[in-house]
Amino acid sequence: MPKVFITRRIPEIGPSKLRAQPGWEVRQWERDDVIPRDRLLQEVKGCDAVLTLLTERIDAEFLDAAGPQLKIVANMAVGFDNFDVAEMTRRGVIGTNTPDVLTDTTADLAFALLMAVARLLPQGERYVKEGRWKTWEPLGFLGQDVHHATLGLIGVGRIGAAMARRGAGFEMKVIYYDAFRRQDLEERFGYEYRPSVEDVLREADFVSLHTPLTPETRHLINSERLRLMKKTAVLINTSRGPVVDTMALYEALKNGVIWGAGLDVTDPEPLPPDHPLLTLPNCLVVPHIASASFKTRDAMSELAADNIIAVLNGRAPKTPVNREVVEQKGLR
Ligand code: GLV
Repeated sequence: MPKVFITRRIPEIGPSKLRAQPGWEVRQWERDDVIPRDRLLQEVKGCDAVLTLLTERIDAEFLDAAGPQLKIVANMAVGFDNFDVAEMTRRGVIGTNTPDVLTDTTADLAFALLMAVARLLPQGERYVKEGRWKTWEPLGFLGQDVHHATLGLIGVGRIGAAMARRGAGFEMKVIYYDAFRRQDLEERFGYEYRPSVEDVLREADFVSLHTPLTPETRHLINSERLRLMKKTAVLINTSRGPVVDTMALYEALKNGVIWGAGLDVTDPEPLPPDHPLLTLPNCLVVPHIASASFKTRDAMSELAADNIIAVLNGRAPKTPVNREVVEQKGLR
């Protein structure tokens, strides 16, 4: 009898599908907080599949605790920097993520952050609610124009490309750096390639990060690179917190090296309430909510469950991150 563990309360569609599988034993951490590591390691013992979030580290210790019958770990997230993919592959454990279903929702939030920082929405809201709005102010709340500005993308995968489409809708000039040049996008939409991160940083009015977290992208945005940006520029991060050196960003925002930042992800995450970044008026931080719409979170829950159902029924999952294991097992 297949055993599955779900590490958090998630939209019901995924868990319901798993529970509807005849004879499956499906258990769940039915809470909204992170399952303590010890408890997680106990719960996964003997499981064939585990549905995880980005808060669970899937490493040798986890795989040992689960045991050799473990076939799949299905992350309910597109990012999978919480997976030790090499170790999973070595042990023949399939990893899956939830790409595509969250692309547009994530880009919507990235663009919302961009607009909110550019046009000082949080400051304006606070001002009104504090009862300080007395008149129309010719010199009040002056922000940066979004339309016709230059949007610089670091990474133009699925979410980066969706961000580019939003920028194009505001008649922005779109420039990008990516390790993989996207001539298709250049030809079709006129986005312009720049051969380095530095080139994008120097030229863009808005820089938006759309790269996975890897050893190469950790602290990609450091104090040296922040100094290349325009004084009027805005940095948007909806990728992973450690892609930016947090204290370097703090210094840059405080000293006017750049104009503002909008962050959906931080390092550390969550950001403690007394963190210096939160003292800055020009830094907007939201709690890692880029994929948080009703429809998208349902779709992520369902896709993660579908991947488990496929693998435990001897079929290939839709969105593996280590396809070689799927092939080795001859799943189709
Ligand atoms: C969330 O951060 C995700 O990777 O889906």
